[in-house]
Amino acid sequence: MNATLADPLIAKYDVAGPRYTSYPTVPYWDVTPSAGQWIEHIRDALGAAGDHGAAIYLHIPFCRALCTFCGCNTRITRSHSFIPPYIQSLLAELDLYRGHLGASKLEFGELHFGGGTPTFLTPEELESLLKGLFERLQPRADAVASIEVDPRVTTSAQLEVLARYGFRRISLGVQDFDPRVQDIVNRVQSEAQVREVTLAARALGYHSVNFDLIYGLPLQTLASVDATMDAVCRLRPDRIALYGYAHVPWIKPGQRRFTEIDLPEGEQKRALYELGRQRLEREGYREIGLDHFALETDSLWQALTSGTLHRNFMGYTTAFTRPMIGLGVSSIGDAGDAFAQNEKDLQRYQERVALGELPIQRGHLLDPEDQVLRRHILRLMTRLETHWDEPDDYTDFVATAAQRLAEPAADGLVELGAASCTVTEKGRGYLRNICMAFDARLARRMPDKALFSRTV
Ligand SMILES: C[S@@+](CC[C@H](N)C(=O)[O-])C[C@H]1O[C@@H](n2cnc3c(N)ncnc32)[C@H](O)[C@@H]1O
Ligand code: SF4
Repeated sequence: MNATLADPLIAKYDVAGPRYTSYPTVPYWDVTPSAGQWIEHIRDALGAAGDHGAAIYLHIPFCRALCTFCGCNTRITRSHSFIPPYIQSLLAELDLYRGHLGASKLEFGELHFGGGTPTFLTPEELESLLKGLFERLQPRADAVASIEVDPRVTTSAQLEVLARYGFRRISLGVQDFDPRVQDIVNRVQSEAQVREVTLAARALGYHSVNFDLIYGLPLQTLASVDATMDAVCRLRPDRIALYGYAHVPWIKPGQRRFTEIDLPEGEQKRALYELGRQRLEREGYREIGLDHFALETDSLWQALTSGTLHRNFMGYTTAFTRPMIGLGVSSIGDAGDAFAQNEKDLQRYQERVALGELPIQRGHLLDPEDQVLRRHILRLMTRLETHWDEPDDYTDFVATAAQRLAEPAADGLVELGAASCTVTEKGRGYLRNICMAFDARLARRMPDKALFSRTV
């Protein structure tokens, strides 16, 4: 689809840029911690977390078929022969952490199953994984457990097992309800399938149901997004992630299976988001940070109003839980001042765990400037403002932020104070661009090859 760039702001700010689920962003990680350093950072973060416990992220990469838009780390298979050894590796990896940290049981405040498709696992496989996990983990009284599911492979029996272990938040991959769009991205699922999983979850006591939607998929039009929103409003989830389609075919070749001519871009893509936003706001949803919406009764909105909203590799979360320990192939852990990502190749991940090694492939030790800039970007992403009137929030790069923000300020995207920056209503759609003014690593070294999706 040809982009029509009549809106000069969209033309100006539609550039390649990070989504800022971390700072520094992954391509700029350059000091990988050793296993010993990583454990020390986790230990320090656990001490600093007081009685919050850890956040545990578990990656289950398996999916039955590839949705061609997908940017996640997946292993496409129909075979379940991979599952028992994978569960064994996950538990063995957790045992490595327990051993290094000297904890017979690791206390957690958050547990999240992501993927891939965690409900690729049968109820029996889920039971075996959860039993093993809960022999090694101790939930805090206020712990929350959440899971991402594909409605096409999710049954009440699976949700029932998860509910027994305390899962009360569920996220359904919906993406789009238009048959033409579903067909071109190889993701055909009906409203009835989504309704069935939504109702089953509610009946089992899940009190936060999220739908993942994407705008900017091939063949989407204003009319098709309007119809998708009709169906979404009928089902009324508590939360919605309305992600901008990230087109990165040089990283995800599956995205070459549709032609770029079919992709809405620039002003057309932004119009799809605006339509979605208006529809959702009319139904009582409130916009949160970048691309997220929640009903006022949902904990995500309550976290925003009470100032506890946090953003990490999973997107927005309701509590600032640190450290995050990532288990499984390609999982990322976050100790606040250090990141570590596991091996992205399934076999390599399993081999290293079997050898008794923490399977860290790469990571980053944040220097003092990274830590300051990380706080600014996190504040912008969660509270739409940041300030640098305290010495802790100040670096030489922050001192020149106002210069980099002069043009966005002139365009009405931010309001600048003597030592502060507040995103305006008009600027919300350009949040990634605004964060880029605090990204020293990007400013100092523009990537020499395409790395990021476009900001619009
Ligand atoms: C792990 S999947 C969700 C669970 C399950 N696999 C499913 O698809 O139903 C995570 C979410 O990432 C989003 N996503 C995947 N690839 C994307 C891309 N290229 N651009 C934007 N969002 C994407 C989709 O909305 C998807 O639901
Ligand atoms: S969108 Fe979900 S189901 Fe589809 S390939 Fe990606 S992770 Fe798997």
